[in-house]
Amino acid sequence: MGRKMSRQIKIFDTTLRDGEQSPGCSMNLKEKLEVARQLEKLNVDVIEAGFAIASPGDFESVRQIAGVVRNATVASLSRALPKDIDTAYEAIRHAAHPRIHTFIATSDIHMRYKLKATEEEVLERAFNMVKYAKQYCHDIEFSAEDASRSRPEFLYRVLEAVIRAGATVVNIPDTVGYATPDEYAGLIRGIRENVPNIHRADISVHCHNDLGLGVANTLAALKAGANQVECTINGIGERAGNAALEEIVMAIQTRKDVFDMHTEIDTRQLYPSSRLLTKVTGVKVQSNKAIVGDNAFAHESGIHQHGMLAHSSTYEIMTPESVGLNMSKLVLGKHSGRHAFDDRMKQLGYDLPKERLDEVFAAFKMLADKKKSIYDKDLEALIDEQRSAGMETYHLTEFVINSGNTITSTATVKLMKEQETYEAVAKGYGPVDAAFKAIEIVVGQKVDLEDYALEAVTEGEDAQGEATVKLKVNERVYTGYGLSTDIVEASIKAYVNAINKMPQSAGFREERSAG
Ligand code: KIV
Ligand code: ZN
Repeated sequence: MGRKMSRQIKIFDTTLRDGEQSPGCSMNLKEKLEVARQLEKLNVDVIEAGFAIASPGDFESVRQIAGVVRNATVASLSRALPKDIDTAYEAIRHAAHPRIHTFIATSDIHMRYKLKATEEEVLERAFNMVKYAKQYCHDIEFSAEDASRSRPEFLYRVLEAVIRAGATVVNIPDTVGYATPDEYAGLIRGIRENVPNIHRADISVHCHNDLGLGVANTLAALKAGANQVECTINGIGERAGNAALEEIVMAIQTRKDVFDMHTEIDTRQLYPSSRLLTKVTGVKVQSNKAIVGDNAFAHESGIHQHGMLAHSSTYEIMTPESVGLNMSKLVLGKHSGRHAFDDRMKQLGYDLPKERLDEVFAAFKMLADKKKSIYDKDLEALIDEQRSAGMETYHLTEFVINSGNTITSTATVKLMKEQETYEAVAKGYGPVDAAFKAIEIVVGQKVDLEDYALEAVTEGEDAQGEATVKLKVNERVYTGYGLSTDIVEASIKAYVNAINKMPQSAGFREERSAG
């Protein structure tokens, strides 16, 4: 007598497409590759790597992601147009498991105002474009954009046609986050009952969060028979975002009794994935965010703490460890040796190559001279800093700040580039502003400071400051990260880090040697 197997739900991650196209979340090629590698560790089934025709940069990142990802399917989005489909295929053709994801809107509102096309024209285009894509690869996903506001009878006809043309997955997006759980589950049931060939395709759901119902709608649709979910890490995405991957996965796992389903996600990679995305984009999650927020596993009130001490099940429905959050209070310090350090890194889930481990250990030793106790968060911050450093064009060598409430702040900053030292002095509204202006002079490039944030990594007077800046040049935003026990130094490092991510092209000063 075998045990009844629960139904597998496929996780289609669109952090690098729907997520990346949202404000403040853009990533460069190196960052996208890093996120894609982490998504493989997380063990998602499908990575939507981008929208290949959107720009040459998008094309290149989809192509390179397709080249490195081995286990997951790699998809590129494309409108239902031959040139989009050609480009999408060109970008994913070397993937181990390529998928073309093509879409067209099926709601009256979109067809009338955006496409200026009739139902019959949209039906024909959907059928023809899936057939067209099918000449390139077997795995074709079709999305009926704004499906939740489409006339169901028309939607059924479109789905029947695209499956006939070869679609292996049909996606039913709630594009504007308008649906409610009952309604959306009803739509999925309607599709299962009224599309005669629906058994030949997976049913996918894609919910936006405009009414805060993205995850609820997704879960309702799964119960109604959908078997693929489209979601993003931290719920990033257009407007209010997409349904959050970590919330869907943990709801299914924690409430197996209700859902009778499973995913193949390695849940211990949820927190590391969230953290990586936050560092790469500089977009933080709110502290009370489910699963990955700073307070998601914190018990503050006396009654709760008392309950937790008596038995963790009183107030804990899942363990922090199950999502990859290490709650151990072990601290390292000045006298901790290499062995203790390596051990701790392993326990935190970092599997770094020897040379990177050496670099982080050197940074750890320097920090230990300035800070009594080194917590896990300090180690994670050191790794983040080392990771974001990458190719350094400019490197901070020295800075001097003069500041006070009766004088104008001035900053002298020396940066090094290819063995040359460049120096500038500037005044500003405060020490950080003065330092940023001095850097601007050194690099000879006008930049707009879009965002600046400074946070303490841990508690305590000797805590490290973690600075994030977003700099805008020619409509592109570059995120920089810096870490130091001195907050001005952390800010300067973050600014320089963002500068280093920019193409060092025209506009950047070439000679300003201070010897
Ligand atoms: O929200 C949406 O409809 C989409 C589709 C392109 C899948 O992102
Ligand atoms: Zn979307």
